[in-house]
Amino acid sequence: MKKSNRKLLLGEEEIACRVAELAAEISAEYEGRKVLLVCVLKGAVVFASDLMRRLKIPVEIDFIAVSSYGSDTASSGVVRILKDLDSSIQGKEILIVEDIVDTGLTLDYLRKNLLSRKPKSLKVVTLLDKPARRQVEFTPDYCGFEIPDHFVVGYGLDFNEDYRQLPGIHILNLEF
Ligand code: IMP
Repeated sequence: MKKSNRKLLLGEEEIACRVAELAAEISAEYEGRKVLLVCVLKGAVVFASDLMRRLKIPVEIDFIAVSSYGSDTASSGVVRILKDLDSSIQGKEILIVEDIVDTGLTLDYLRKNLLSRKPKSLKVVTLLDKPARRQVEFTPDYCGFEIPDHFVVGYGLDFNEDYRQLPGIHILNLEF
C-alpha cells in the first residue's frame, strides 16, 4: 500500500471554529472603526477570505506579495516586495493578514515597511505561528494556532505551489 506523504494537523472544522473566534475578537476590538485588511499573497488568501466574511466591522481589503522561500523550505532571509498595495494606507487602521510566521523575517520587514507609510494603526493576525524557528523577535497580535516545527501545507499554504487547495492543514513529509 502506498504511504501518504502528509498527515492531517488541523481539520476543516477546527480551523473554521478558530477563525470565527479570531473574527469575534477582532470585531470587538475594532468596534465602530473600519479596517483595511492587508492580505499577504498567496498563502493568506484562503484565511483572509474566511476571516473577512466573519468580521462584523466594515472592512476593505488589499493585497501585497513578498518574496518567500521560492522552491526551497528554508528562509533565504531576503525579503522584497513583488506586488505592492494598490493605494495609500496613510491614516488607516491596518490589519496584516498572514498565513504563518516562521523565522519572522517577512513580517518584521512588512511591519516596518508599512509603518513607514504612516497608518493610524497596524496589527498582525496570523493563522499559524511556528515560534521554534524565529530568527527575529516577532509576536503577532492575533494568532490562530501555535504549531510545532514542521513544514505544513493546505488551506492556502503550499510547497512548490502545490497543496494550496486542501481544506485542512497537513504536515508534509519531505522525505518521500
Ligand atoms: P518567515 O519570513 O520565515 O516568517 O516566513 C513566512 C513565509 O514563509 C510564510 O508567509 C510562508 O509563505 C512561508 N512558510 C513558512 N513556513 C511554512 C510552512 O510550514 N509551509 C508553507 N509555507 C511556509
